[in-house]
Formats: sequence, structure tokens, C-alpha cells
Amino acid sequence: MTLSTGTPGSIATAHTLPSYLDPNHLGPWGNYLQQVDRVTPYLGNLARWVETLKRPKRILIVDVPIEMDDGTIAHFEGYRVQHNLSRGPGKGGVRFHQDVTLSEVMALSAWMSVKNAAVNVPYGGAKGGIRVDPKKLSLGELERLTRRYTSEIGLLIGPSKDIPAPDVNTNGQIMAWMMDTYSMNTGATATGVVTGKPVDLGGSLGRVEATGRGVYTVGVEAARLTGLPIEGARLAVQGFGNVGGTAGKLFAEAGAKVVAVQDHTGTIFNGNGLDVPALLAHVKARGGVGGFAGADALANEDFWAVDCEILIPAALEGQITKDNAGQIKARMVIEGANGPTTTEADDILHDKGVLVLPDVIANAGGVTVSYFEWVQDFSSFFWSEDEINARLVRIMQEAFAGIWQVAQQHQVSLRTATFIVACQRILHAREMRGLYP
Ligand SMILES: NC(=O)c1ccc[n+]([C@@H]2O[C@H](COP(=O)([O-])OP(=O)(O)OC[C@H]3O[C@@H](n4cnc5c(N)ncnc54)[C@H](O)[C@@H]3O)[C@@H](O)[C@H]2O)c1
Repeated sequence: MTLSTGTPGSIATAHTLPSYLDPNHLGPWGNYLQQVDRVTPYLGNLARWVETLKRPKRILIVDVPIEMDDGTIAHFEGYRVQHNLSRGPGKGGVRFHQDVTLSEVMALSAWMSVKNAAVNVPYGGAKGGIRVDPKKLSLGELERLTRRYTSEIGLLIGPSKDIPAPDVNTNGQIMAWMMDTYSMNTGATATGVVTGKPVDLGGSLGRVEATGRGVYTVGVEAARLTGLPIEGARLAVQGFGNVGGTAGKLFAEAGAKVVAVQDHTGTIFNGNGLDVPALLAHVKARGGVGGFAGADALANEDFWAVDCEILIPAALEGQITKDNAGQIKARMVIEGANGPTTTEADDILHDKGVLVLPDVIANAGGVTVSYFEWVQDFSSFFWSEDEINARLVRIMQEAFAGIWQVAQQHQVSLRTATFIVACQRILHAREMRGLYP
């Protein structure tokens, strides 16, 4: 069955769009609206609240001026979007990238609402970003940018209001500056205002590996349910950073063979399975997989057609498209990245019988351990890494089992099933709370 994907024009006419969006360039928000359309028929009486999901609750656009090292003043555009707060405070990362747009931050905030509800952690969805290429800034400029942005969005964030975290091009150091700035402005150390902090500053053990561990956990569950043995299964991984590197390592430890890896430095292949610990050491030393001795180089465009059972996109958005989806030979795609598959490609994979484990559940391990970090900060009592990993695995397994059952019941994709579970939770919370006043 091929589901209608819709053109930007038709998405725009099917929805009442806010005036601040360009109907002809809806961007990722258009993609998200299509996903909401697909879930609406399954919402029953809760469908009367569905417009709530199509309108972010709150959007803050800020000007972030900083003095550059050469004495000039530069201005950057920053955002914080709170998509939905029905189930708890906002939660979602902050992205520093030159191509960040309001549409993208809106969509990422909405996907956080869905993801948090899918794993049933008590958060709404939020996201933030600054239009900046941080690689062009000195460390001092990056710190000034982070601190000024944090002050500007200080109106919205707080340990019980909205809790940012790292995303693309932001890390533990940036979280430490955000925590410090918020604490200076409020007059008390507030470790719980951000997650993904360094462990010495109220961060959590296990947070760095959490997203990759979640990818691995749902992958193993889906493999079990579909009769795919992990032992000997061939894996292709795009992106060998935090998410892809951890997932690749865990699958290899379980007996799978990582046969191909692509990152920004090239594509490598070894049909007998790459030596993953050696590859991780190479990436750490050299910044990418390019030039790894234990593999052959492959043309980048040949990556998608590699013979494998499991494909893990763990790099960027919009990587699996209508142009390469037809070449994919994997039985299962596990979305480590956010939004790696376009709606058209999703339909092509569905028609080919490829099982797609969608981002909104597959990469939810990171926010789950962020939730543990926040709980530990509130109680000032820290758990062991084993406890954290055990709780993470249990939450991911239970969430995935529920989603799998809904997909079977309604005969829908796992993406739509995840949206059904999550949107019902969000809208049920909305209905019980009622409208104020
Ligand atoms: N880190 C988390 O906790 C987390 C949680 C949820 C989702 N995600 C998503 O997972 C994805 C990866 O995040 P990460 O934390 O692993 O980032 P990372 O910076 O550690 O790794 C990114 C990887 O992508 C590769 N890459 C970059 N450009 C590429 C290109 N043009 N072609 C192929 N590969 C390219 C890089 O070489 C690197 O290996 C992102 O979409 C992110 O939003 C991350």
C-alpha cells in the first residue's frame, strides 16, 4: 500500500497554517503535519483535540548579540519552541547550526513531545537552536554566544519548566555554561535546568552511550519478533559518532558483523566484518572512518545498496530519500538519527517490506537517561551505571512491546503506531487537564 505523501501545497491547504510559516516552504514542519494526519484516524474521541498537536504552544525568537574576538558585534538568530506541555515540563535539545530554521525547531520540538510520550517519561516536547556555524567561533565566542542565548531564553527555561539538552554541535561543556548562566541569573545552583551535563556537574553515568544503547535494545527486540538472528547479522551504519558508534559496538559485541560504515570522511567496507574497537579508536584519533586500514574504500553513493540485514542511519536528517530507498537491501532500518527518512522513502521501504524502527522510539534512549539525570539532580542522589542501564533497557523494551502490539492491532507502520501511543497519551492529558480558563 502506498500512502499519499502530499506536496507542500496540498499540506498547506489541508491545514490552517500560522501566518509565520510560508505555505510553499513548510520544511520539516510539513513532514510532521503529514505524520499527524496519518495518526488522526486512530485517535477516536481524542481526535477533537488534534489541532493542539498542530500548533506549538509557545515560540520564542531571540536576537543573540555577542562581541567577537576582533571587537566587532555579531548578531545571531536563536529559538526556543515549546510544542506541548500537557504531560510535564518541556524537554529537548539545543542545536547550533547555520541552517537551523523555525520550521525545523518546531518539528524537532513536536517529535520530542511524541518521543517523550512514547517512552512515557513525564515531559512535554521542546527544542532550541541558534543559526550559527560554531566551528567558525573561537572557544570564547562560543561561550559568550551560549551564555547570552541562555539569558535570552531564561524567560522560558527552568528545572520544572523546560529542560534543554545537547543536540547537533552542542555538548557537555555547553550544558555546563548554560547551567552556570541560569544559576547566576536566578541566584542558586540549579543543576536540573539542563541534562547531558558532565558527570562532575550533576550529569548521569550512562548518558553518553544511552541513545546508542536504546537503538541496540529496540533492534534486538524487533529482531527477536521477526526471527532475525543477531549472531552473524550484517550491519551498515551511517554516522559513527556517539549514536552510530555505540550502536555498532553493542551489535558487534552481540555477534553481528558491521560490514559498512559511512561518515563525513568517506565510506568503508569489509564483508567479513570490521574490527569495531579498532575502528572506534581510529575515529577518535583521526576524526572519521576515512583511511581505516582494515577495510576497502567504497564510493559514497554505493553505501545504500550494501548487502546487509540491518541498516542504521545515525548521522543527519533526510538521508533516506525516494532516490536511494529502492536500493536498500536491509530487512530492518533502525533510525538512530532524527528524521533520517523522508515520507516518500518511508512509503517505498514499507512497500518493499523493510521494517523501519522510527526515530521517535528507536533513539529515545538519550532522553530516557536525561530523565534519570534530572531525577538524580532533584534528589542529589546518584545511581550506578548498571542501575541506569538496567532501567533504560526495561523502559525501552516495555515501550517497544506496547508499540509493536498497536502496530499489529491496527496493521500500521511502527511510526504510525508510535504516534498512536504517544498522541493518545498527550491528548488524554490535555483532555483531563481541560482548557484554562
Ligand atoms: N546523541 C544523542 O543522544 C542523540 C539522541 C537522539 C538523536 N540523536 C541524533 O542522532 C544523530 C547523530 O547524533 P550524534 O550525537 O551521534 O552526533 P555525532 O556528532 O557524535 O556523530 C555524527 C556522525 O555523523 C557523521 N556525518 C556528518 N555528516 C555526514 C555526512 N554528510 N554523511 C555521512 N555521515 C555524516 C559524522 O561523521 C559522525 O560520524 C543526529 O541526527 C542526532 O540528532 C542523537
